[in-house]
Formats: sequence, structure tokens, C-alpha cells
Amino acid sequence: MQYREKYAIIEGEPDKKTYPEFSTALSKLTLTHEGVIFFMFLEVNNIKKSYGSDASYIQVLKGVTTSISRGQMCVIQGTSGSGKSTLLNCIGGLDTMDSGSVKIDGKEIFGLSTSALSDYRRDYLGFIFQFYNLVPNLTVLENIQVCQYLTENPLDMEDLLETLGLTEHRNKFPAQLSGGQQQRCAIARALIKNPKLLLCDEPTGALDSRTSRDILMLLEKVNQTYGTTMLIVTHNNSIKNMVHKVIMIKDGLIKQDYENQTRIPAAELEDL
Ligand SMILES: Nc1ncnc2c1ncn2[C@@H]1O[C@H](COP(=O)(O)OP(=O)(O)OP(=O)(O)O)[C@@H](O)[C@H]1O
Ligand SMILES: [Mg+2]
Repeated sequence: MQYREKYAIIEGEPDKKTYPEFSTALSKLTLTHEGVIFFMFLEVNNIKKSYGSDASYIQVLKGVTTSISRGQMCVIQGTSGSGKSTLLNCIGGLDTMDSGSVKIDGKEIFGLSTSALSDYRRDYLGFIFQFYNLVPNLTVLENIQVCQYLTENPLDMEDLLETLGLTEHRNKFPAQLSGGQQQRCAIARALIKNPKLLLCDEPTGALDSRTSRDILMLLEKVNQTYGTTMLIVTHNNSIKNMVHKVIMIKDGLIKQDYENQTRIPAAELEDL
């Protein structure tokens, strides 16, 4: 907190020469356009991940390093097989890394036991996948309630249903919903516990362009309303224009990693 007080009034990039005592700390800080400093929320350092052995050995992640500040939306792009889902799964504790470090809010997850990883997923994360992952014999409301009970401080159910346009569909089963409605339900499941980090693996991959836009506008609204940090894996080349940060992966390495200075609202994206 002392850094925030010290630097909150500085505009632009903090000058490390003027403040040498903070030079190390500054490398871990980011200054938003409002001039407020936050610690990096997600710090990924030199992650390596391989599968198989001998003839089937494949090194998928070859040393991935990046960081994302709190409240940022970030797109991860790369060709099929480049390691995007593997990276997301390692960050989300769905898969283990061979080496490296992943810190969320300063908490290291590399080396955690299976049960500690499960606590981490429950306490910090929401997941959204391409194919919705709803429980078929539960209604929309029940599907969301299952996740609501995982936390002591869930979002307000009625508000969330309203925000996601699900109020009128609350008593339907997944099979009675369109693809876009099913994805909205999956998003509600992920959001009801108000996760600090939302991991999305091709959230619009199975949707047409109009429904994709609806879902992206929703993610944008969630980001603005709840300040949820988001990592979005996508093949669509347009989505990167709406987010704060873009990561391009090629053959298990980060090829490009940049902040997007000119964000376009989801409503105005072309070629979805
Ligand atoms: N459980 C696994 N066992 C063996 N190999 C795997 C496993 N999971 C992924 N791989 C391999 O790792 C590489 C990267 O896979 P990954 O799913 O991360 O790619 P991706 O970038 O998400 O691709 P796509 O865009 O097609 O989803 C691929 O060569 C894949 O075959
Ligand atoms: Mg994938």
C-alpha cells in the first residue's frame, strides 16, 4: 500500500532513477491510465510443460513468461497445437507444469498438492469452455446454483440472471436452449462465485458471429462491472482489438506480448 500512496500522484511511467529504492518493486508494478498503481495480478514465469516419453515425448510449453495486471482482459492467440489450452490449463491448475512459476495475487501455485489446487480453483477461478459443460438434467437456475454454493460471497443470483439475459430461461434445461443461451448459462456458472480470474478457452468457438458479439459484449460488461481479470483463448483475429493485452504463442513460446492502446468496444468489432 505504501507504494500506492507514494506513486498515486505520478503521471506516466514512474521514473526508476528518481526512486531507486523502489526500482525492484517498480518492475512488478503497473500504472493504469488513472495513475493508480497495482501489483501484477498474474505472474507467469518460465513455464515448461511436456507430455509423453521416449518416442511420444513432446515439449509443448518451452518457457513462457508473461504478466497481467488486475482487471485486464487478455487475448491469447496462436495456431492450432501451439500450446494455448495447455497454458490456460497450467495457469488454471487443471494440469501440472514441469517447471516454472505461476503466481496469482502473489500466491504460488507451482507444486501445490491436488487438494490445494482444487481449493485454488474453487477460490480464485471461473472457467468457460467452447462447449458449455452444463449439467444436462439440471435447469439453468440449478446449473448456476451448483456453483453458487461453492463460495461464501456469491454475486446476487437475480442480478446475474438479468445481466446475462437468462431470467426468462431460468427453468429450462440445457437441451431447450440455443447455443448462445447455453454459453450465457455457462458464463453465469463461472461468474456466480465472483472469481478473481476468468479463464475462457474459445468461448465463442461454437457460436455464429452475432451470438459471438453478444457473448463478447457480455464479457466486456462483466469486466467493467466486476473488474474480473480475463484470459481469453481465441482463433478469431478480431477479438484482440477489444482487450487490454494480447499474447501470441508460437510453438510453445511467446512470439508477441503487447498492451493494446486503442481498444474497440465489442459492439464495434468486425469479422466475428
Ligand atoms: N494430454 C495430452 N497428451 C499428449 N499431448 C497433448 C496433451 N494435451 C495436448 N497435447 C499436445 O500439446 C500440443 C498443444 O496442445 P494445445 O491443446 O495446448 O494446443 P492449442 O494451441 O490449444 O490448439 P487448438 O487451437 O487446436 O485448441 C499439441 O501438439 C497437442 O497434441
Ligand atoms: Mg485449444
